[in-house]
Amino acid sequence: MNNQKLFSVLNITDNKTLKEFAKRTNIRVPKLRYYNENSIFPHSEDLEKILEEADLSEIEFRIKMGVIDSNILDLISNNSKQISEIIQKDFNNEKEQSHSAFQPKFETKLGKLYQEDSLELIKSLPKQSVDLIFADPPFNLDKNYESKMNDKLSKEEYKKWTEEWILGCIDLLKEGGAFFLWNLPSWNTYSAEVLSKYLNFRHWIAVDIKYSLPIANRLYPAHYSLLYYVKGEKPNTFKQERIPLEICKKCGADIKDYGGYKNKLNPKGLSLPDVWKDVSPVRHKKYKTRDSNQLPVNLLERVISMSSKEGDTVFDPFGGSGTSYIVSEILNRNWIGGEIGPIDSIKERFKDIDFHREQIYKIQSKKNTLFTDEMRQIREKNEHWLPVDEEVDDKDKEEKNSSTQVDIFSIS
Ligand SMILES: C[S@@+](CC[C@H](N)C(=O)[O-])C[C@H]1O[C@@H](n2cnc3c(N)ncnc32)[C@H](O)[C@@H]1O
Repeated sequence: MNNQKLFSVLNITDNKTLKEFAKRTNIRVPKLRYYNENSIFPHSEDLEKILEEADLSEIEFRIKMGVIDSNILDLISNNSKQISEIIQKDFNNEKEQSHSAFQPKFETKLGKLYQEDSLELIKSLPKQSVDLIFADPPFNLDKNYESKMNDKLSKEEYKKWTEEWILGCIDLLKEGGAFFLWNLPSWNTYSAEVLSKYLNFRHWIAVDIKYSLPIANRLYPAHYSLLYYVKGEKPNTFKQERIPLEICKKCGADIKDYGGYKNKLNPKGLSLPDVWKDVSPVRHKKYKTRDSNQLPVNLLERVISMSSKEGDTVFDPFGGSGTSYIVSEILNRNWIGGEIGPIDSIKERFKDIDFHREQIYKIQSKKNTLFTDEMRQIREKNEHWLPVDEEVDDKDKEEKNSSTQVDIFSIS
């Protein structure tokens, strides 16, 4: 039985005790399972019946379940002295554990890769030593990882595990450092709750990639969530990235009607929005260095270029095929990595670093411009508008006064 919070609070240990509880409360078994497996707090009549059967007050039940609203938080806050006296000893015991130092299993000019459980690795690293954290944890979808790690935790276990590594990572981050977290939207709603308590929210970036087939009675899942937070009031580094105009791939024509504003577009490209449509899954064999879960290089190039500078330190606790490591190395960032499973594919990837360097040059040649060379050619051929050189010079001046630039996303 998948024994999550609710069932353990109610001492439901097996199907027999579950059925008995259902009978006594007159709440159907599937509904009790739904509350339990989805960590949903029971409401209205169901709540009353559960409290009565379990002989618990609502406040005790809420504290046991960890579902504490602001009223209870205020009460806890007002009685903090008495409460902390009760729980202080256990709290100290947890904090005082010692942490081992680890040796990297693979090193490059700029990086260190540890083949360890990142929960432990994080505790061993110096606090406030990292400028950028990028994390792409397993999504708990019961996938078969080379490391044979358990990718089918209960919801409660996964949330707890997530909270633990996130809190550890927050400690590692320098003031002004950036934290990016890639996951499914459903998981990132919980992670955001943890992150928002300690860090400053910048963006929920929707990365437009279809990640599963359409599901009946649901919207078609079409984006991954990339959370972006900083430690402290403002980021140490934020470089405004710009992207080319969206045009028809075949004929080069405009997709949107820019009316009379086209000449006012910044020739360095459009301001990067918080919906990214130009990140495609790694499909091509040549670019794909292992079976699954490999993030595209252009995603990491963007994140690392935007939020760190040369010489900074990037930490990624979930190495996989090492996309963030290879991109960090090429962009002259120091990097620290953790991977619990085999690291051969990461080492292999570094043997082919020149191939990735080329990839990154190509990616960089296509950003911070309104039209790439390819786009210019097709637009010239089909006689579509292009900014003339004088306009480019003028626009360079305008760059200093961003208020005069037109944001394409506000033009319908
Ligand atoms: C989604 S993949 C990361 C993919 C990576 N971003 C890439 O582009 O290749 C997650 C990785 O985290 C590793 N992992 C899972 N739990 C871990 C842990 N506790 N410590 C370190 N690595 C872990 C898995 O073995 C897996 O390779």
